[in-house]
Amino acid sequence: MTEPIFHPAIPLAELPRGRMQCVTVAGREVLVCHTREGVFALDNICTHALARMDEGRLRGAKLICPLHGASFDVRDGRVLGPPASRALPQYPTRVVAGTIEVALEAEASAETGVKTQRG
Ligand code: FES
Repeated sequence: MTEPIFHPAIPLAELPRGRMQCVTVAGREVLVCHTREGVFALDNICTHALARMDEGRLRGAKLICPLHGASFDVRDGRVLGPPASRALPQYPTRVVAGTIEVALEAEASAETGVKTQRG
């Protein structure tokens, strides 16, 4: 099995729980979301009509598109509400030495997120 290649994205300390941030990882825009259930990374472009998801809202694990209101589950990228019908690509994450890292080769790992410590 191919090992995923993780890239540094953003210091965990710069992304409080409940917030999201668009970062460029290996030349690609990725939306990093810090929820109570962990840190998740997804494509920043809505699968419906290409809106930038970082201009939307994060409510718990639900990511809401700013343009037409489609919603996605950040834990796996699946669609929660229309008009989008295709899931947002989601990428494995981990935290190493206080830095959130993202692996863009989503198919290379079964991991879908990383738990963070309370406090
Ligand atoms: S562009 Fe996201 S719902 Fe239409």
